[in-house]
Amino acid sequence: MKKIKLAVIPGDGIGREVVPASLKVLDRIAGLHGGLKFEYEHFDYGCDYYLKHGDMMAEDGMERLGQSDSVFLGAVGDASKVPDHISLWGLLLKIRREFQLEINVRPAKVFGGIKSPLANPEDFDIMVVRENSEGEYSSVGGRMFQGDDEIAIQNNVFSKRATKQAMEHAFELAKSRSGHVTSATKSNGIFHSMPFWDEVFRETAAGHQRIETTSTHIDALAASFVTHPERYDVVVASNLFGDILTDVGAAIMGSIGIAPSANLNLNGKHPSMFEPVHGSAPDIVGKGIANPIGQLWTAKMLLDHHGEEEMGSLLLDTMESVTADGFLTPDVGGCHTMDEVVQQILSRLQK
Ligand code: NAD
Ligand code: IPM
Ligand code: MN
Repeated sequence: MKKIKLAVIPGDGIGREVVPASLKVLDRIAGLHGGLKFEYEHFDYGCDYYLKHGDMMAEDGMERLGQSDSVFLGAVGDASKVPDHISLWGLLLKIRREFQLEINVRPAKVFGGIKSPLANPEDFDIMVVRENSEGEYSSVGGRMFQGDDEIAIQNNVFSKRATKQAMEHAFELAKSRSGHVTSATKSNGIFHSMPFWDEVFRETAAGHQRIETTSTHIDALAASFVTHPERYDVVVASNLFGDILTDVGAAIMGSIGIAPSANLNLNGKHPSMFEPVHGSAPDIVGKGIANPIGQLWTAKMLLDHHGEEEMGSLLLDTMESVTADGFLTPDVGGCHTMDEVVQQILSRLQK
């Protein structure tokens, strides 16, 4: 029996709704497989934990999470209780940093039965590779002076190693897809880091002669995602550009509630972490209408990561058959609850 040890962090808001629902589906998948078992360790880390303990996770939290094969996370953030920069840097970003999850892979595609707001989303099927450890999300900088003279400085940090690593990952992915990589740049306006980004991109491309490349400024690229989504396949982007582009990609799919992501550790020293693109959605929490597809598609990426691609495809196909039959939550124009959608998925995952 193959066992996958998952550290489960539902986190805040709708994370506590979509994560338990997804575990039911993972257990069903394991049952269908026959030779697979998930072992869960549950962690109640999040904003309520912070209010009780003064920290977003226990002192030995990273060590305990590190004993898992992968981390399965819902969402972090409840600004009504804890300021976002404290909750995110104390949990989500802490895990990304300390577990060296330097690559964030975020697919987006036209999804069966889910209407895109665009008139022409045909053939939209992209994979954004987001550099996940540095760039605009550096902790270098600070605030100085006071009152009207106060200034805040945020230093972007781009290392050749992490930049090249993200780009190599994108080129490798492109080999098994349509053979095209787009680089999100801004070398016309960001003086130091983006010309450097472009140089590393050219250098990386030189090692992959058969892959076609385009370099597009992030502002034009965001617009072109909307006007010509069919043009894109693999896109490599810095941390902040990738963050924004993947919300645009999610919107093109029809809702941020369906977009998944995998935060990958490449050196084998720590577990990878799987979490949807969306946040804790405070505006719909407790209403039972959270779309479970983002968390479930994330579970599919987790299955793939652990070598269970067949089960991963079965899960994705089942979800698409359910949405195609009109079992949709309100964010994608439906009138069904999360439980109804999950129930449909479970009932179609039978032996
Ligand atoms: P959000 O993704 O939580 O919500 C944006 C909008 O999308 C809201 O209208 C919400 O109702 C809707 N939405 C999101 N997920 C949905 C789902 N599964 N089903 C249906 N509708 C869904 O983004 P936000 O409002 O900017 O952030 C809320 C909180 O979440 C903040 O504290 C933020 O920092 C945090 N956040 C966390 C993560 C993460 O943990 N990975 C990601 C993004 C935001
Ligand atoms: C995401 C989120 C996070 C990010 C926030 C909550 C720190 O927006 O995962 O897309 O910016 O990476
Ligand atoms: Mn985001």
